[in-house]
Amino acid sequence: MEETQRDHLTWGLLEEEREEEKQKKFDMSKYYFGGDVEMAVVKCAIDLGMADAIANHGRPMTLLELSSALDCDLQNLHRVMRFLVNHGIFKEIIIRNEDTVPTAYYAQTHSSRRLMRTGENSMAAFILMQSSPPAKAAWHCLSACVKGKATSAFEVVHGEDVWKHAEANPAQSQLINEAMACLARVIVSAIIDGCLDMFEGVETLVDVGGGTGTIMRRLVKACPWISKGITFDLPHVVSLAEQCEGIEYVGGDMFEFIPKADAVLLVAVLHDWGDDECIRILKKCRKAIPKDKGKVIIVEVVIGNKEQQKEDNKLNDVGLVLDMAMMALTHKGKERTLDEWAYVLREAGFSRHTVRSIAAIQSVIEAFPA
Ligand SMILES: C[S@@+](CC[C@H](N)C(=O)[O-])C[C@H]1O[C@@H](n2cnc3c(N)ncnc32)[C@H](O)[C@@H]1O
Repeated sequence: MEETQRDHLTWGLLEEEREEEKQKKFDMSKYYFGGDVEMAVVKCAIDLGMADAIANHGRPMTLLELSSALDCDLQNLHRVMRFLVNHGIFKEIIIRNEDTVPTAYYAQTHSSRRLMRTGENSMAAFILMQSSPPAKAAWHCLSACVKGKATSAFEVVHGEDVWKHAEANPAQSQLINEAMACLARVIVSAIIDGCLDMFEGVETLVDVGGGTGTIMRRLVKACPWISKGITFDLPHVVSLAEQCEGIEYVGGDMFEFIPKADAVLLVAVLHDWGDDECIRILKKCRKAIPKDKGKVIIVEVVIGNKEQQKEDNKLNDVGLVLDMAMMALTHKGKERTLDEWAYVLREAGFSRHTVRSIAAIQSVIEAFPA
């Protein structure tokens, strides 16, 4: 070991690292109150229906108009709006007329539209699910997971995994389904814009863990050659799905059986599971498709996907955040690197696979048995 390195390890930090340390101390402030405050204020905006009120009004609103529409305390609403404007979630527009005092109006932004309860761009249910007491409680037990003393942080708190807990708690189950539908809308748009060609020649498609069918409904419209789309999920989930022509809903357990089709789609499902479970699910998928021309389409985060990193490092940051969420909420679930994906696919008997980026945090992996 070189002298300077030994000095560094033995005697403390070099000058430039002291500088870095100072910088980090400043950055640490976000962890003192951190994301919890942002999440709570954004949830408050959803609960009160702030974005919906401005949308219904049809034009930006003054504080007085907003407080009367939402039946809120004027001062407290002002403080919350100041926070949200400062975070770029709503916009404040000041109108100055010659003969009147300047008036502030609150206007929508791309971000605030995500807080609306309904609509294609709504992420409200996803935020409500992540900030719901069952999900939040799990984060407090993350250290037990890291120590390897717990099956999952969620199970430490609730005594059962997310899916069993949801089955026993219909309101939480509905929240999860709605949250997944928010994500599904974003992902399916990216799939349709970026790689619809991968469904060419696919006449029957099964979406495993397809929730209440948001993805399949959009895909069968975008690919009229798909004559049968099957949404497969746990029975208590598919029982709530909206019936739609050309779509069959099948309830079951993917560890036991997967309906046969030309191709299997798995969107944000495998990251809920450890490698052994993934391999078991993928083997069932392989059995469900034709050996010669079948394929499994996996839409998942690929940690360290170089192509995406070049475009926007933030995408990779989100992948790492999701990886922490998998640790808190699932037993052995994780976001995987390219090598980790190659491992589970090889073990499940797939001879080759390709990876491509889409305009989402997730990438698309196509895996072929032959
Ligand atoms: C993270 S969600 C993904 C939902 C959907 N693919 C989407 O993007 O909206 C995982 C889904 O897997 C389903 N699931 C969990 N365990 C399952 C099992 N054993 N068999 C079938 N589906 C299961 C859940 O009900 C849930 O809908």
